Amino acid sequence: MSILLLNGSPRAKGNTATLLRQLESGIEETGAHSVRYVDVARLNIKPCIACDYCHSHGGACVQKDDFSALMEQALEADCIVFGSPVYWWNISAQLKLFIDRIYSNMEGIRGKKIGVIAVGAEPLGDSEYRLIQEQFACIAQHLGWELLFAEFASAYPAGAVREDAAVMERFFQLGKNL
Ligand SMILES: Cc1cc2nc3c(=O)[nH]c(=O)nc-3n(C[C@H](O)[C@H](O)[C@H](O)COP(=O)(O)O)c2cc1C
Repeated sequence: MSILLLNGSPRAKGNTATLLRQLESGIEETGAHSVRYVDVARLNIKPCIACDYCHSHGGACVQKDDFSALMEQALEADCIVFGSPVYWWNISAQLKLFIDRIYSNMEGIRGKKIGVIAVGAEPLGDSEYRLIQEQFACIAQHLGWELLFAEFASAYPAGAVREDAAVMERFFQLGKNL
């Protein structure tokens, strides 16, 4: 399958990026899938303005920015992995901008497989990880997506997660077993 990895962190070499890259290494190890990595936070994606233009224009968004190209990639993918730092018990605003704009073509994007990766400073077991997992479970149910995995890690400074060999191995194996 074709897998799209989305990094919703503004830190291009942060913990989310590190774990997505580790997942990518695991995926590439088997050669079974194609994979594309996107730094969503670097794109110009404006907030949904709820104008409903999309609903009378075949799923096309009225706003002209980087959303449509990323949505094309999402539509082409079999599996989308949403990667985010934890911000205030939630995903980042940068990733949320893209998710909100999916509203423009909910029919088109039905039936995907998805994965979720989030990294927070707080220890695993804190409520943000459960909240993020539940949020994606609800979105997945609404859009007919199959939630393949939701995997979390705890790290604070940018890239610090690399020093945690067990977590790095967990994400490599996750990619290898997809
Ligand atoms: C605005 C902001 C809000 C944050 N809120 C939380 C939070 O609610 N819970 C948590 O565990 N960590 C929180 N953190 C810490 C980050 O999730 C953590 O540093 C993470 O490793 C960042 O991932 P990144 O390196 O991929 O950007 C917050 C960080 C920022 C900048």
